Amino acid sequence: MSDNPLQLDNVSFGFGSIAVFEKLSLAVARGEFVAIVGPSGCGKTTLLDLFSQFRAPTSGTIQCTGGVRMVYQHDSLFPWQTVSQNIALGLSHITDAGEQRRRIGEMLSLINLEQFGDTYPHQLSGGMRRRVELARALAGDSDILLLDEPFSALDYLTRLRLRNELARMLEEFPRTVVLVTHDIEEAAQLADRVLVFSERPARICCEITLELKRPRELTHPQVVQTVHRILAELGLEHQDRHLAVLA
Ligand SMILES: Nc1ncnc2c1ncn2[C@@H]1O[C@H](COP(=O)(O)OP(=O)(O)OP(=O)(O)O)[C@@H](O)[C@H]1O
Ligand SMILES: [Mg+2]
Repeated sequence: MSDNPLQLDNVSFGFGSIAVFEKLSLAVARGEFVAIVGPSGCGKTTLLDLFSQFRAPTSGTIQCTGGVRMVYQHDSLFPWQTVSQNIALGLSHITDAGEQRRRIGEMLSLINLEQFGDTYPHQLSGGMRRRVELARALAGDSDILLLDEPFSALDYLTRLRLRNELARMLEEFPRTVVLVTHDIEEAAQLADRVLVFSERPARICCEITLELKRPRELTHPQVVQTVHRILAELGLEHQDRHLAVLA
């Protein structure tokens, strides 16, 4: 067994006659932040489902060592529970009530929602709800975080803000992260490594490594260059030229 918390070796998977992966191999190192971008329907969500062992591969092996938390595109907070109670769901391993309260307070302050512990999800904005979901995912002692388009339902400015907040949260609560996103800027601003997937059956058609500390400026040359490379890889070069004209 390797030391990687997440690893696929020669994994094949399909839904009936739809081949999603054919002998896909990929590894994520401890503490690494990997972003995955690729065409709609290529298998990104399925990949997270394989990592979390929600689905089993047809062949090949999957290694996932450590607890996993998932954050989805859609809201998954329990509407009948307050913010604090939702966060407490991530803390079920802590039995001491005082220690649980202390941890909830710590997470509320991490997401700057100290005043909202007794509030219900419907009383929060979309961005606030996302922050609560991230706090719930980070509250426990799971060391792997799987994010499936966590910010895609938000407006552009809130997305920019939450990206930086996520970077800051990970400084405080380091995790091994796989982020699936359609937002190429988000991938370039956050990831240590960006994997660009092809159409089904998905293979990795390009891998870009960024050695740049977070949070990163959107306009940092390496971030801008990464955005251009991803666009070119996805066959969107004309948009790439368009951006260059605008720049
Ligand atoms: N439960 C399912 N039953 C049958 N086919 C499925 C199921 N879930 C996904 N698929 C198919 O598997 C393929 C990969 O789906 P998946 O949801 O992983 O794509 P994706 O890359 O996450 O797409 P998107 O970017 O639109 O979220 C698609 O062709 C989809 O139609
Ligand atoms: Mg998906």
